[in-house]
Amino acid sequence: KSSSKLSHNFTNNNEIHTSAARTSALLSTSIGFQLNPINITSYRLASTNSTWNESSLPDKIKSLDEYKALYDLSINDPERFWKMAAEHLDWYRFPTKIKNTEFDYRTDRGVDIKWYEDGILNVCYNCLDRHIDHDSSASKQVAVVFEPDTPTETRHHVTYGELLRDVKKFANVLKKHGVKKGDRVTVYMPMVVDACVALLACARIGAIHSVVFGGFSASNVAERISDCDSTVVITSDFGLRGGKCSPLKSKIDQALKMKQCSNVRTVLVFERNYGNNADVKDACSDQRGTLEWKEGRDFWAHKEMETVNENCPPEKMNAEDPLFILYTSGSTGKPKGIVHTTGGYLTYTSLTFKYIFDYNPGDVYMCTADIGWITGHSYIIYGPLSNRATTVVFEGVPTYPDVSRFWNVVDKHQVNIFYTAPTAIRSLMAHDDKYVTKTSRQSLRILGSVGEPINSEAWKWYHSVVGDGRCPIIDTWWQTETGGVMITPIANAWELEPSSATLPFFGIKTQLFDKSTKKPLTPPNTGELCIQDSWPGQARSLYRNHERFVDVYFKQYPGYYFTGDGCEIKKNGYHCITGRVDDVLVISGHNIGTAEVEAALNEHAGVSESAVVGYPDKKKNQGMYCFVVLKDDTKESEELRKDLIKSVRNTIGAHVNPDVIHFTPDLPKTRSGKIMRRILRKIVEPDTSNLGDISTLTDPSIVKELIKKSPRTK
Ligand code: WTA
Repeated sequence: KSSSKLSHNFTNNNEIHTSAARTSALLSTSIGFQLNPINITSYRLASTNSTWNESSLPDKIKSLDEYKALYDLSINDPERFWKMAAEHLDWYRFPTKIKNTEFDYRTDRGVDIKWYEDGILNVCYNCLDRHIDHDSSASKQVAVVFEPDTPTETRHHVTYGELLRDVKKFANVLKKHGVKKGDRVTVYMPMVVDACVALLACARIGAIHSVVFGGFSASNVAERISDCDSTVVITSDFGLRGGKCSPLKSKIDQALKMKQCSNVRTVLVFERNYGNNADVKDACSDQRGTLEWKEGRDFWAHKEMETVNENCPPEKMNAEDPLFILYTSGSTGKPKGIVHTTGGYLTYTSLTFKYIFDYNPGDVYMCTADIGWITGHSYIIYGPLSNRATTVVFEGVPTYPDVSRFWNVVDKHQVNIFYTAPTAIRSLMAHDDKYVTKTSRQSLRILGSVGEPINSEAWKWYHSVVGDGRCPIIDTWWQTETGGVMITPIANAWELEPSSATLPFFGIKTQLFDKSTKKPLTPPNTGELCIQDSWPGQARSLYRNHERFVDVYFKQYPGYYFTGDGCEIKKNGYHCITGRVDDVLVISGHNIGTAEVEAALNEHAGVSESAVVGYPDKKKNQGMYCFVVLKDDTKESEELRKDLIKSVRNTIGAHVNPDVIHFTPDLPKTRSGKIMRRILRKIVEPDTSNLGDISTLTDPSIVKELIKKSPRTK
């Protein structure tokens, strides 16, 4: 739809620049950062007379004006906006009820979120079949470009037709092994095309996938298998990352020996090197070891796929049927099984992908996340494929075989849209720019960032060195719980500012609160970030634990979704995320619950108790600082320190690495025995000039001791 049909009578639009003017302004400044602030006088952007007169959504959002008109509509008439959004999908029955949500736990109904509740659709059909049904040439279009860890390994491009065939076959394998609609299936896979096959096959038959990141330890996988009661596990014999072999199947073997996994009856194993590539064989022959094989339980996926036919009609799913569970770390206790459902999740991820990244037919899109995290679910698989995009699945790491890898891959596959995490950017900018500049990168049009705050130094390097000053940086803020991107620029629609995720996506109304008074704040201001009303992509609950869902996200600020993040909203309405305000650490883009690390440390025979807090780290966003109290009969030593680090890695996963272990005879505690984390955070920040009131501690002298001994205060 053309934007000229828009009637936008903004009350405050006298200084709004056209997007073309902005783009040229951006290009004309050599580094492009002296940008004029946009004139958004009200951060709510809702006080306009604009109307959207069309009966469907536009193909692209080309300007701030267009955004404002639609944003207003999405806030004032969410039913109409999200009905139009749902029209982007194919439904067996189009919903007549669009939104039916309650955020206030104090009402009779309590927190309850339903979108498109009488709609019927299938996610896999929307990601694969329908493109071919609408246009048979789609079957020959590349759906997934596989870029293996070893650059010389033969790459496989998989077309929509081929992917659909494999998904149908694997779906029939799942059926053959008794998997039915609503059953939970745990997926523990490397970053290969078969991971996409596994997820889409589950979606096709209505099974609920629960992907566990391949870096997690056997005991963590076991915990996640038993929490959602999976009886079937999908894995691979091994995975490759940075030239190292990761023995996934043997970790599953270990996990399944644990009592809590006794219900698992089938393990379907994809062969990583199906087709026998010599490079892969070499890389793995030593490290892979011998595979344990339990007859009757373990089956090779490719062999099973030979025994079934290609005919597998998609299951008709209700919009509110669960699509997947994904575990994420919480402030306290065990990981939370975030539940996403079918219709709202796909509508939201599909629309955000389309608008934010300005995807054009034929573009090659690459996201470097792992499918073990939400970014991989929403923006490697479901968002791109539902838009008939070509998506790159990258198995490797940014630094292998050398630090040019990302940019070589961009050139090799002519990637147009590239989406990665600030941690990767920071680790690459530590090296000489020549590793970037020796590559072409001419294909790049848009650069995205996700997972943690991107500091302005990294933003500028990404923009000027990687993007040659030509590509907008799309800093997307969102969470596992939100399903899709929430605060973000829309490519080429408005001006950017380093380190700002800029404006909320359609339907997202942000609200800041003061942490101590719990009162709402009016921007410009900084506070705790909440969302005022529901959006289709949000998590519906925690698996079999709605009470915890309500406690964690809806009790702090009644009537609002509490994000757990701090945020600054500037005069121009731009949002800058300041980081977590709870006990979740975001280290190198991974969410790590301090409680989980403490539990791992406390399991060690020599440890009496521990407290884990984060501190600012330039490279990793946060560092992990562990205060450890030893048992009376245990002496501190360098060896013990190493042993504790190792045991945390073994218990949780190799991506979790304590930076500092600080042995202390005691921890600052209140008289009721609660550890005063606030003080520990201040000590390690370090900001010891203002520790606040410490008189309520049982032993205030311990604070001085800790400061004296902390390597961070030296
Ligand atoms: C952080 C990842 C600043 C934030 C999609 C959030 C960010 C947590 C950004 C969720 C960003 C994510 N700027 N911080 N652009 N994106 N975060 O669940 O603290 O793995 O709450 O979802 O990452 O991490 P999760």
